[in-house]
Amino acid sequence: MLILGIETSCDETAVAIVKDGREILSNVIYSQIALHKKTGGVVPEVAAREHVVKIVPAIESAVKNAGINFEDIDAVAFVSGPGLMSSLLIGANAAQTVAHVLKKPLIAVNHVEGHIYANWLKNKNPEEAHTLGSKDSDPEFPILVLTVSGGHNELILWKNHGDYKFLGATLDDAAGEAFDKVARLLGLSYPGGPAIQKAAQNGNPENYPLPRAWVTKYDFSFSGLKTAVLRMTKKHEKKLKSPQFVADVAASFQESVCEVLATKLVNAAKTFHVREAHLAGGVSANARLREIAQKLLPPQIRLRFCGKISLCTDNAAMIAAAAYFKFKKHPRAYKKFTPIVVNPNLELKKW
Ligand code: KG4
Ligand code: ZN
Repeated sequence: MLILGIETSCDETAVAIVKDGREILSNVIYSQIALHKKTGGVVPEVAAREHVVKIVPAIESAVKNAGINFEDIDAVAFVSGPGLMSSLLIGANAAQTVAHVLKKPLIAVNHVEGHIYANWLKNKNPEEAHTLGSKDSDPEFPILVLTVSGGHNELILWKNHGDYKFLGATLDDAAGEAFDKVARLLGLSYPGGPAIQKAAQNGNPENYPLPRAWVTKYDFSFSGLKTAVLRMTKKHEKKLKSPQFVADVAASFQESVCEVLATKLVNAAKTFHVREAHLAGGVSANARLREIAQKLLPPQIRLRFCGKISLCTDNAAMIAAAAYFKFKKHPRAYKKFTPIVVNPNLELKKW
């Protein structure tokens, strides 16, 4: 089954063709990073205008790169939330139009669900395999997933396809948001995650120690840590010109966030006796997070993440992957035309 997936929840115009939920035939991503660098963050109106410009070329490129014709597409999937309303609407309308013209099913996918299904996608390149030291096998339920991106930060017990139990979430900022804000405080570029990871390579986390926010067993909180960095940068304002100071604080911040994220994931994975622990979302690209999680996990629990960085951050292959499993479970639900709904605060629900 060939699914055309569309992702426009934030600042990437992405379209992909995925076969049977796992095999990527094409994965087009028009990134808006350069555009949003100027403002140090995403301005929704600016993002939406860019989606309008890029969505049709992205759809055409995805079909062309996959080496298929539009008639070969079996279903169309789009991200219906959470995300920026004006951005979501552009992808939803494009998807609805393609599905209508082709007379094919239209499948709405939750963005967080997309991120977690990215771990089902196969990587052709062995260096980009999803697990450390092993190739692309099917994930095995039950799975404990840590979703960490700019907008989401949850711990989810994933019992089976479409069957989720929420264990915890952030009480304030998502980890990615904290990375982005702290990068700004340190004068690093947008997006903050990769910039902090790079700076941290030359830093010593022990030179400027930062606290760990353990809050409740499975919840997260990163606003206090952000304030601690703010205080530290104010106290040492002159040192902000020193690359070594920036590197040390970046390393210390990264260590604090990753230690808390990985520890909670591993504790939950052990408590619920899962077979696999997954990292999903933009922050799962972080090498230190992967390293700490791998170190803390017992050998019988497999750690899985997308080796390919472009599958950790927003992409449309993940939307097409999730859509495939949703369609397979309830194929009849997509036979009739149903009005599309986009919701900026969409919650992940059982299906
Ligand atoms: O999943 P994503 O592309 O978009 C959302 O759904 O929010 O995640 C983007 C977030 C940004 O906050 C970015 O700074 C963070 O992921 N990120 C990273 C890394 N790469 C991206 N955070 C830490 N380390 C990284 N290497
Ligand atoms: Zn995302």
